[in-house]
Amino acid sequence: MATVYIDNKPYQMDPEENLLHGCLSQGLNLPYFCWHPALGSVGACRQCAVKQFKDEHDSQGKIVMSCMTPAVEGTRISIADAEAAAFRTGVIEGLMLNHPHDCPVCDEGGECHLQDMTVMTGHDYRHYEFDKRTFRNQNLGPLVNHEANRCIQCYRCVRYYRDYAGGKDLNAFASRNTVFFGRDEDGVLENEFSGNLVEICPTGVFTDKTLKHHYARKWDQQFAPSVCVHCALGCNIDAGERYGTLRRVVNRYNHEVNGYFLCDRGRFGYEFVNSERRLRQPLLNGKPVSSAGARLHLDECAASGRVIGIGSPRASLEANFALRTLVGPERFYSGMADDQAKLASRMIEILRRGPMPTPTLREIEECDAVFILGEDITNVAPRMALSLRQSVRQQPMEIAKRANVPLWMDHGVRDALQDAKGPLFIATPYSTRLDEVATATFRGAPDDLARLGFAVAHALDPEAPSGQDFPLAAEIANALKTAKKPLIISGMSCGSEAVMEAAANVAMAAQAALSLTAPECNTVGAALIGGSPLTAAFEAIRDGRTDTVIILENDLYRRAPASEVDTFLSAAKHVIVLDHLANPTTEKAELQLPAGTFAESDGTFISSEGRAQRFFQVFAPDNEVLASWRWLKPESWKNLDDVLAALSKALPELAPASYAAPSSAFRIAGAKIPRSPHRESGRTAVLVNIDISEPKTPEDPDSALSFSMEGTPDKPPAPLIPFFWSPGWNSIQAVNTYQKEPGGPLRGGDAGVRMFEPAAPNGRSSNRQAWFSAIPPAFEPRAGEWLLLPMYHFIGSEELSVAARGLAELATKPYVAVNRADLADGAEVEVSCASGTFRLPVRLQPDLPQGVACLSAGVAPLSGVTMPAWGKIERAK
Ligand code: SF4
Ligand code: SF4
Ligand code: FES
Repeated sequence: MATVYIDNKPYQMDPEENLLHGCLSQGLNLPYFCWHPALGSVGACRQCAVKQFKDEHDSQGKIVMSCMTPAVEGTRISIADAEAAAFRTGVIEGLMLNHPHDCPVCDEGGECHLQDMTVMTGHDYRHYEFDKRTFRNQNLGPLVNHEANRCIQCYRCVRYYRDYAGGKDLNAFASRNTVFFGRDEDGVLENEFSGNLVEICPTGVFTDKTLKHHYARKWDQQFAPSVCVHCALGCNIDAGERYGTLRRVVNRYNHEVNGYFLCDRGRFGYEFVNSERRLRQPLLNGKPVSSAGARLHLDECAASGRVIGIGSPRASLEANFALRTLVGPERFYSGMADDQAKLASRMIEILRRGPMPTPTLREIEECDAVFILGEDITNVAPRMALSLRQSVRQQPMEIAKRANVPLWMDHGVRDALQDAKGPLFIATPYSTRLDEVATATFRGAPDDLARLGFAVAHALDPEAPSGQDFPLAAEIANALKTAKKPLIISGMSCGSEAVMEAAANVAMAAQAALSLTAPECNTVGAALIGGSPLTAAFEAIRDGRTDTVIILENDLYRRAPASEVDTFLSAAKHVIVLDHLANPTTEKAELQLPAGTFAESDGTFISSEGRAQRFFQVFAPDNEVLASWRWLKPESWKNLDDVLAALSKALPELAPASYAAPSSAFRIAGAKIPRSPHRESGRTAVLVNIDISEPKTPEDPDSALSFSMEGTPDKPPAPLIPFFWSPGWNSIQAVNTYQKEPGGPLRGGDAGVRMFEPAAPNGRSSNRQAWFSAIPPAFEPRAGEWLLLPMYHFIGSEELSVAARGLAELATKPYVAVNRADLADGAEVEVSCASGTFRLPVRLQPDLPQGVACLSAGVAPLSGVTMPAWGKIERAK
């Protein structure tokens, strides 16, 4: 550490960092705009000025930008210096010349970094008396709003969007005092991470357009810490509610998982909670029934002894376990289609046996050679793609190090690196968004991808089973062998166990980290709970062993062909369904039970990293919606702690999940943690038409959070942070004050408990397991038939997010992708396979392997199609 003197007081700082980072780490208030911990320094805004002195005898000093000055031993600076303070006030007045006086109508008002910094600098009087520059705002689509006049030209947006996220369609245009940040024309922002502009922009240029439809100020929302439900990565979110409507989702910093950024599916998918398709009342034979009546019917059906339960990989551990307890372990089914269940258990087996470490998303950013086998990462595990875009900079970063450019000096680093990229190899059936930063790509059917993987493993370690020789295998092997932190990524999405096994062999041979993706937010948790797959449940009805089925948060028509599900449901005497949204399965239910979404319940998911994370109820609904585990639990379980205690006892491997967050008894100085900011104007007259007296706030028996603004003013532990706020820091950038250092871990540790720890954390282990050796034969195209594979979509393939208003507009329509030269783009064809016959438009994709066609995964009417499968494609008559 280096000793740096600030206003004559010594502070210990990281000499590898800059002074702004050091000052903020010490809890000192110093204003800034263009610097961001994830983006580094460019010195564009001049807001972070301090006075630097040569030594203790220098009384004159000079103004420097703290974000551009290294925190080296013996540095002496002053933040309080009058000239430096006047400089900062002058700079903000300059930045504000064209900024409109529209805080009262600005969506950012009350949580604006520009407001905070203006107050921090003491600028309170505007001398400028002339016309302001005005821009025409752009329509950037349904997710992000644009109000260009508020811009203070900090350049953060384009640096984030282009340099960090790889976007192409946002830029800085014009010059001098008319610099404009936007697209070259109106249009939907193309990048999957565009929503982060809302938090990156320090003022109200880019704001959340979905919030605009039901706007509430930050201080008027009630928040809870939560976990994204739209893929298996488990990004941490804070969700805000007012008057029973979920208003928005913002990023909840977790150093190891999502850091500062979410994908757009995760940020904007929340509106399914407000959907008109929500089930809000128990229905028995289509008629409303009281909660007590519904529970009585459920108990009667369960008591018959002829009941089975079908769980779900998108329901919490607690909900799955409550159903398993109600029906008995031998009558509990996992709710996964057979092929998915098999892949999930193979994934768990690989994770359990190690010794390859499973990296966090932050660790993925630091990997310096990556081999992706079979996964379309941007569409399947979106936030991981953002991490991979940083990992390709790791090896070239050595150029900057050799040139003595500090790694925080963003412009210097980018000048040194130019377009240099580190090794990233992608082997998938179809082209992916990340191909543009890849060293080399390989297209093949899953069997050929597996064969490539086995060949790479063999090239790395001759003891590994060999298969065919691929010219690319030696290049990949060499890149992995010479890397400091090699990484292999594979997963369940191309439907091949052989691909995952090949990836495990490569990771063992390269002594690399291994990351396996999974499809849903609790696929890993559901696989650990166990239960037979879906067709076993179908057989139980068919054989007459059972006549009653309870289905938990699971639209079976997305798991199996419609004809099979129809047969199953119509053969059951009683069908009881718990879910959030009406869907084809709930339509077949005798009893529908309205299940709380992540916003109306508490529970735990286990991410594909193997991280158990708790989500908390954001609000208590004023209807009969209940957490699924509450509908299903035995009388003796009073609260969430009781469910977790029973779960830990019944399934000891899952016991660590109960430590994912403090229990409901946790208090800080005897007080609960408030869900609402202390400035909440909760006591309004808006409800007096219902009740003149102020309603009592609901009790929360399940967590240490309170449904009010009352509670501890202290900062809670990471799993319980409902929102980021500190005195003087009203924007989300208050997260600085919760971290050990900006961009570093949260104080007290980041949220989540890892269920699988590697034999050699973050390092190479020679403790190798037995090789996988089932190398599949090479793929042989069939005459007149096509191997149908799933093609994933960022918006459209995931079930719940397509019910969100903004995303619904952008969702992909169903199609078949082929490379058949005799068909034109858009031509209609009939695709027939074991799951049915579908009339679909063609999308020509010339790089697809011969004999392979892809169907848009999860998009109705293709959502229940079992793939991979052989099928026929014929011109539509
Ligand atoms: S739009 Fe926002 S982030 Fe971009 S330059 Fe302007 S103020 Fe900065
Ligand atoms: S990457 Fe996955 S978990 Fe993260 S925000 Fe996106 S959909 Fe949610
Ligand atoms: S934050 Fe230092 S110049 Fe902008």
